[in-house]
Amino acid sequence: MNRIEGHDKVTGRATYAAEYPVEGVTYAYPVQAEIARGRITSIDMAGALAMPGVLTVLSSEDPPALAPGADPELGLFQSREVAYRGQIVAAVVADTYEDARAAARAVRVSYQEDPHDVRLRGDHPGLYRPEKVNPFYPADTEKGDVAAGLAAAAFTVDVTYTTPAMHNNPMEPHATLAVWSGDGDLTVYDATQGVSTARDMIAKLLGLPAERVRVVCRHVGGGFGSKGVIRPGTVLAVLAARAAGRPVKVALTRQQLFDVTGYRTPTIQRVRLGADADGRLTAVDHEVAEQSSTLVEFAEQTATPARTMYETPALRTAHRLVRLDVATPSWMRAPGECPGMYALESAMDELAIAAGMDPVELRVLNDPETEPAGGRPFSSRNLVACLLEGARRFGWEGRDPTPGVRRQGRWLIGTGVASSTYPAMRRPSQATATVENGGYVVRVAAVDLGTGARTALTRIAATALGVPPEQVRVELGDSDLPAAPLAGGSMGTASWGSAVVAACEEALRDGKHGAADTTDAIKAQEDLARHSFGAQFARVRVDMDTGEVRVSHLLGIFAAGRIIDEDLARSQFVGGMTMGLGMALMEATVTDDEFGGFSNHDLAQYHVPVCADVERIDAAWIEEDDRHLNPMGAKGIGEIGIVGTAAAIGNAVYHATGIRVRDLPITPARLL
Ligand code: MOS
Repeated sequence: MNRIEGHDKVTGRATYAAEYPVEGVTYAYPVQAEIARGRITSIDMAGALAMPGVLTVLSSEDPPALAPGADPELGLFQSREVAYRGQIVAAVVADTYEDARAAARAVRVSYQEDPHDVRLRGDHPGLYRPEKVNPFYPADTEKGDVAAGLAAAAFTVDVTYTTPAMHNNPMEPHATLAVWSGDGDLTVYDATQGVSTARDMIAKLLGLPAERVRVVCRHVGGGFGSKGVIRPGTVLAVLAARAAGRPVKVALTRQQLFDVTGYRTPTIQRVRLGADADGRLTAVDHEVAEQSSTLVEFAEQTATPARTMYETPALRTAHRLVRLDVATPSWMRAPGECPGMYALESAMDELAIAAGMDPVELRVLNDPETEPAGGRPFSSRNLVACLLEGARRFGWEGRDPTPGVRRQGRWLIGTGVASSTYPAMRRPSQATATVENGGYVVRVAAVDLGTGARTALTRIAATALGVPPEQVRVELGDSDLPAAPLAGGSMGTASWGSAVVAACEEALRDGKHGAADTTDAIKAQEDLARHSFGAQFARVRVDMDTGEVRVSHLLGIFAAGRIIDEDLARSQFVGGMTMGLGMALMEATVTDDEFGGFSNHDLAQYHVPVCADVERIDAAWIEEDDRHLNPMGAKGIGEIGIVGTAAAIGNAVYHATGIRVRDLPITPARLL
């Protein structure tokens, strides 16, 4: 079965948020703060207002009305305080995009500037323990005696890894079209991962009943988390349209994305591991320092995978956070698990070397019966099967662990392995299934952010109804449809699919129509540890003279429940692994200590992997039958592909060169 919207996409017929034709549309262009901290003393708008086509200027000179208690990141123009460089402090609305942009440059903002601090440091005096980390985990956990476990160990590692800030770069930059009707109803065409979520957030911000707001999003050109919640650009379109009395389009530039759509927090991670003479872990300690803004506490769950991964009598995980004069970090594919597993899985490699053990064998030996931190049973856990199957396919057996000894001309060759994990969760969703014109129409306010959700849901519904997929039409991407959670946290298919199956089953019983809400079913489910697992293998070659790293082969084997559509699944896994390759070798946003903000903010200076960087990536999975999940037996697959990739590549680079790079990305300079 081909992707349902595939033809529309490749022929340019698929409509994205910025492309809806609307009568009388106007454009808003933001003015961004030029300081990292301080306050606005005055805004001179006269020059801008006199320019051609300009309708109005929005700023804190005349703050637009919002409901009390607005999120300070989204509550545009409510405050004179500047919290980070690049924050939206004013905006011009004009008849054309070009007029708005030109006039935005003529807005003069004066500031009283304060000293700023934008640098995450492991010894920052402002570090504190947040109450919880995203979305609801305790910040710290402790089991057993880590000091005793380390003291008793035959082999230990005590290492610190750092990961830089990183930015999502979806092909479709964030865009919004806001249209107010004469009687005060609002329609928003938004590039978003969740239409119900966006609708609720916009309604709350404006103090409107949710039913007066409609959010439409038929197609998304990628999000990876950056479109998970509404961003300031969406709010700008809504407020500008209200102020101008005309529909307003906001299409952020690639450069603006780097300022206002969130980023992966940089991390500093200390990992201490101990193992006895046989290689059994005696202690695991994972402590993370990361950042948030002064506006909002965003505490990423970086050390949480250590609570899931390996058996140990002593286990401590801790998160420390510092509030800096920066934009608030946000979600980037596998937020938390991805950088956390980079550190843990690199440290496991270092422990294997210290103990003289094969790194696959070390992981297999320490596979737990129950969840190491909480003791809950796993709904299913097939990490060992992934490691063994991956080792077999990759040709791991007989690997010589000696680093720096395999050469092909100028290239040093190495291989590495790392584990992967991601939680398998779901959220309450509604859906309906109705007999129409001899077939079925399934309605759910899901969003297809480029993953193929339409196609997957069509298959799920067809299976539940016992009809061929051609007899099912799925409607999604509109908040007027039955409410549904966002496409994020690898929860979309599991959440929406559960409701779709229930609605289809009811439609079969009823003969005409079925409606479902999974809230109660999810509340009633057993308390189990539900996670996907995987094993990542990498082969690299490193140019001895230039330090260039090429990834010759990536192989990922995943255990992610039942796979609903093989083509879609492979593309999710391979996409995640490609993004992990970028994390390992090239992606980093550079914090500008002097001026605040980020100094690289386009694709010329922030490098994401392109086809030429990818030589061979294979993704496969093992059959997994987990009855504890949902009617489809599926776990999420959107994020696990990125988890572990960077560690596997870093471990392979060590094997090739004997150089252990503990600071990502592994650029040539770090190998010379
Ligand atoms: Mo993803 S970071 O949960 O959109």
